[in-house]
Amino acid sequence: MAQHRGGYRDLKDHLRVVKRNWGLFSVTILIYYKLKDMLREIFKIHFCFSQTSFTLSWASYLLARHPHIQQQIYTEVTTTLGPGAVATADDVSRLPLIRGLVKETLRLFPVLPGNGRITQDDLVVGGYFIPKGTQLALCHYSTSFDEENFHDSLNFQPSRWIRKDSTDRVDNFGSIPFGYGIRSCIGKRIAELEMHLALTRLIQKFHICVSPLTSEVKSKTHGLLCPADPINLQFIDREN
Ligand code: HEM
Repeated sequence: MAQHRGGYRDLKDHLRVVKRNWGLFSVTILIYYKLKDMLREIFKIHFCFSQTSFTLSWASYLLARHPHIQQQIYTEVTTTLGPGAVATADDVSRLPLIRGLVKETLRLFPVLPGNGRITQDDLVVGGYFIPKGTQLALCHYSTSFDEENFHDSLNFQPSRWIRKDSTDRVDNFGSIPFGYGIRSCIGKRIAELEMHLALTRLIQKFHICVSPLTSEVKSKTHGLLCPADPINLQFIDREN
């Protein structure tokens, strides 16, 4: 399943072997299929950047709806970075509430609400026999709201992701917005960093408020989990 991640060198070797054994026509067909693979990956990456922007919209919306949490995060950012400093990747580990904000936003609004796998072996899960080759649909949108996984699950609480001490584990398989395992999101790190830095800057510069044009915004699925209505917000300059 993970073979398409092979590099350019693999591809060149592959083409050489095919040409030697099967002639130029086969090489053309192979290139066609490889190009299709590459285009699919480029499409996925393009598609994935809209996931980052949806998540940033939801995070801004949640901050606007919860001004006291926005204030807590603002306090964390200003006391950690000092007035006006622009955060870099090295600062993110010192901003646990910013990281909690992204995790909590993706728990409540996972842009990809479900995921799928085809089983490679016979399995027994929770007493159910699942034969090899079964297509499984996994809905982590629903496990994100399961009280067994998250206490007070309907509430927006970025602080739930903060470790109390070094033995505390806040990883929770109830929420896996980037998937898991060999085919999990390869853009996770870059997407998280982009969102951490963008939200830090937004919170430093603006009070984010709900505009009178927006009442409660629900989500709806179009493949991706999108806002069902436009999110209208006000960004009011902070005096710093
Ligand atoms: C909020 C942002 C994002 C979310 C929530 C997200 C989520 C996901 C999920 C759930 C998958 C499927 C994982 C699985 O099947 O286990 C995936 C796959 C993928 N993502 Fe993302 N993604 C995001 C941003 C990005 C970005 C920015 C990039 C590119 C730079 C990217 C590149 C990819 C690629 C190439 C795959 C396919 C991996 C494979 O099939 O092996 N993603 N993503």
